[in-house]
Amino acid sequence: MKIDFKIEHIDPIGQGVSKENATVTFIKKTLPGEMVEAVVFSKKKGVQFAHLAGISGPSADRKAPECPHYQSCNGCDYQHTNYEKELEFKKNALTRHMFKFPEMPITVHGAKRRLGYRNRIQLHYDKKKKVMGLMNYKNEIIPVPDCKIIDPSVAYELRALYADNNWLRAVEKEPLKGHVELYSKHNEAGGHNVKLSVNRPYANGGFTQVNAEMNERLRVFVQKKAEEMIPPKAVVYDLFGGNGNLTVKFRNPTLVVDKYRTTPTQTAHQKFFSLDLYDQDAVKKLIALKAEGYPRPNWLIIDPPRSGLKNLNEFLNEFKPDGFIFIACEATSFTRDTLGILNNYELKSVEIFDLFPSTQHFETIGIFTRRPNNA
Ligand SMILES: C[S@@+](CC[C@H](N)C(=O)[O-])C[C@H]1O[C@@H](n2cnc3c(N)ncnc32)[C@H](O)[C@@H]1O
Repeated sequence: MKIDFKIEHIDPIGQGVSKENATVTFIKKTLPGEMVEAVVFSKKKGVQFAHLAGISGPSADRKAPECPHYQSCNGCDYQHTNYEKELEFKKNALTRHMFKFPEMPITVHGAKRRLGYRNRIQLHYDKKKKVMGLMNYKNEIIPVPDCKIIDPSVAYELRALYADNNWLRAVEKEPLKGHVELYSKHNEAGGHNVKLSVNRPYANGGFTQVNAEMNERLRVFVQKKAEEMIPPKAVVYDLFGGNGNLTVKFRNPTLVVDKYRTTPTQTAHQKFFSLDLYDQDAVKKLIALKAEGYPRPNWLIIDPPRSGLKNLNEFLNEFKPDGFIFIACEATSFTRDTLGILNNYELKSVEIFDLFPSTQHFETIGIFTRRPNNA
């Protein structure tokens, strides 16, 4: 049954919020001030979720989405408005999380391209239902042959995978349900090839940021900050460092730590060390490196997955670095992990880098330095 709602504001994960008679309703793909019709599909005490079914009073900021799958697909959140609005919603989201720092200005670095940027896409399949694609609001798989946020080379291979149900052949010997991933990988000739992996962990071929243009801007920003703040001979640990992307042009001796399947070959200033940083003995294992001739770090670069680094405190108490740069793809983990360390470290600046245009996600970058009382 369709019900009328008035949208009051957008929440930090991009959902429109409507409040009436002590019931809060979340409706995706709406805008503040809009009058909409929506169908409730999930309900708990005082909270419900509804699916947009019509707009009787559209916002002046509404625009037609470019992707034909947008209304049904859960992958994107902001294609129904312009990019300036999207960035404003993202800034509001981080501001709400940063309530402990009401005075701290947030600098937003928007992307040049809002579509056609993702160099990888993971799709679910169900052989019995003969469907492969992304999820809709009911967590059902829907086909997305014309997905618009992936880059042209990945989009080309995606269409080829859908043509004549070719994907069914690719998963012929695989379980009934699973996932496939298309990803663009650099080749030796300086170009890139698109590869297909089936039922392998995300980014199995080695982690690379999904948005090459914005990754480069983030990398240059981190490096510039490092040149300003980190003395040349200071030792840096690049934790959750992947292939060393963020510190690749640092002048400092750097130890890049990640849970590698294959550890990269060391370069002049970067050494690579394989470690599960969520292991309860991770800090002890890093300390033990001293015996192997690795100096202790003066600065940390920390770029964890979405779950963040809950025991950041432990790393800081042990190494007492002069400062650290925290890069978080989940703003909630950013505030949760860093709130407990503020007696000893001061937040100097906060930035948003929009590595995930059209979606509710973004990267938060905080630079912290040690307070003088924490010698
Ligand atoms: C957000 S990515 C950042 C990678 C890198 N800093 C970059 O800019 O490309 C998070 C990284 O954490 C690594 N990772 C995930 N779980 C881990 C764990 N338990 N221990 C160590 N590294 C882990 C992943 O392999 C991935 O490289």
